[in-house]
Amino acid sequence: MCGIIGILGSHEVSPQLVEALKRLEYRGYDSAGVATVDASGQLNRRRAVGKLVNLSDRLVHEPLPGHAGIGHTRWATHGAATEANAHPHRRGPVAVVHNGIIENFRELRDEVISLGLTPESETDTEIVALMTAWHMDQGNSPVEAARATLARLHGAFALAFLFEGEGNLMIAARKGSPLAVGHGKGEMFIGSDAVALSPFTDRITYLEDGDHAIITREGAEIFNAAGAPANREIQQIDVGATQIDKGGYRHFMAKEIAEQPAVLGDALSHYIKDGRIVLPEAINFADVDRLTLVGCGTAYYAACVARYWFESLAGLPCDLDVASEFRYREPPLSPKSWAMFVSQSGETADTLAALHYARDKVAKTVGVVNVGTSAIARDADIALPTLAGIEVGVASSKAFTCQLAVLAVLALKAAHDRGRLTDAEQRAHLEDLRALPGLLNQTLSVSDECRSLASWLSEAQDVLYLGRGPLYPVALEGALKLKELSYIHAEGYASGELKHGPIALIDRNVPVVVVAPRDALFDKTVSNMQEVMARHGQVLLISDAEGIEKGGHGTRASLTMPSGGGAFAAILYAVPMQYLAYHTAVAKGTDVDQPRNLAKSVTVE
Ligand code: G6P
Repeated sequence: MCGIIGILGSHEVSPQLVEALKRLEYRGYDSAGVATVDASGQLNRRRAVGKLVNLSDRLVHEPLPGHAGIGHTRWATHGAATEANAHPHRRGPVAVVHNGIIENFRELRDEVISLGLTPESETDTEIVALMTAWHMDQGNSPVEAARATLARLHGAFALAFLFEGEGNLMIAARKGSPLAVGHGKGEMFIGSDAVALSPFTDRITYLEDGDHAIITREGAEIFNAAGAPANREIQQIDVGATQIDKGGYRHFMAKEIAEQPAVLGDALSHYIKDGRIVLPEAINFADVDRLTLVGCGTAYYAACVARYWFESLAGLPCDLDVASEFRYREPPLSPKSWAMFVSQSGETADTLAALHYARDKVAKTVGVVNVGTSAIARDADIALPTLAGIEVGVASSKAFTCQLAVLAVLALKAAHDRGRLTDAEQRAHLEDLRALPGLLNQTLSVSDECRSLASWLSEAQDVLYLGRGPLYPVALEGALKLKELSYIHAEGYASGELKHGPIALIDRNVPVVVVAPRDALFDKTVSNMQEVMARHGQVLLISDAEGIEKGGHGTRASLTMPSGGGAFAAILYAVPMQYLAYHTAVAKGTDVDQPRNLAKSVTVE
């Protein structure tokens, strides 16, 4: 979702702004813009709808000189993706870029209209520029004017201000949405994340909630929510860890799928050492009476899979919900319960709000997050990194399997703490987990078969995915991946639910993807598959060799998976879900890494 960059530099900043915005592309956007202050103090801007290449073209024909500038990629919330709604928003001497939502913007809009000002766009952001310009008109300095405006804003936001006649000033503010200040040599930067700033500096200060920073080339003065000077640490970031390139692959997603054996291995080695689980001491599930699992999108499906493990292996009762429902349904939570929040970005607005809802009601909050510096990592009592590395493809792949790996380790820890597994039994399960990277590596070879199947799937209007047990959420994830990447309507169902509705959709034009390793539920899933085939449904069965041999008869196609993984085989089945969606999207020619309308890190409700 929206990306912010700001530079007080020593060269022309337009190319640098665009370069940084390119690094923020992965978050998802539908328009972009930059504003600069030139040597004579003039504030100018250029904006363009669509991909960054449109903005770059614009800048070739209408260059934007200046050593100070701000830039933005916008994912439309208030108002369509038009040039008028694109950021930076400008009024008089003020230009503003913004990530998040200003919740009281209608009230503020009425207020500025009553002052005789006329908004030119439909956005909430323009109101910030209008109000700040108005305060300057009343004789306030840029800093005073920005502060007076910030004091009125409700909601979650990251903001950057630039001012005409002020080539050595940027103001940054954050409440909710992330924002970092980068320290250079005689240059200063602001950005939505370290990825955007890494070409310029490896010294970064993360602003905290309610902070604002007055930035000049000489440094940043940071103030907390109460307006008092705040000392915020400068962190040295590992620039290597922020490298984003496709590594020879056609798409980031292809690279990220292929990286799974390695990153899953990293995550497992972090939490399993010498055959034992290594977790912070505070993690002991012995007295936990209930576990609440919360997430959004793919992270929610990881939580769905984990529920099967926590319940069946550890006997731990679980509640499960998407964050956007959980945060508002006022769930009563036991003080002896724990709540676990699963999130790749660690910034998803609903998941963060769900954590804030739960934190003084439960005994412990745990964040299972990929971005270690994120809000969820900071605000949870315990943060457990999933160690997938940067994921650029908007549709999650390696982040999902790494979430599953960490959740599997936690479920085994819970099972042991609660006396449900002996040392030896736990060790046997850990061995199954440690075998997964190798098995995942073998699983990558299904890519070629998925490519062949893609021409069939790409013709379909609807696709059904079926699974049982932990494979049910994997089926949901498979359907989500196909929808996200190829825009084909797809639904995941618990196999047993088939005859309660979706069977009405079955005809020879609806591909039905069945994920079913040869486990205790296999025969039941095969019966459901027979019901599909009896109605001319075209089945793709994904199973191990034994499962294909036993149940593959009469299917349109099958994919043979390696057997193994024990209780955690579901993790392997994520791979064909990813490749089917990926190759179908490639066959259809859709934008694999940045599907339309989607954003990587969803910082608005
Ligand atoms: C967006 C992304 C998904 C992701 C979901 C939750 O919808 O496109 O890939 O699963 O947000 O994000 P999180 O960062 O909390 O895991």
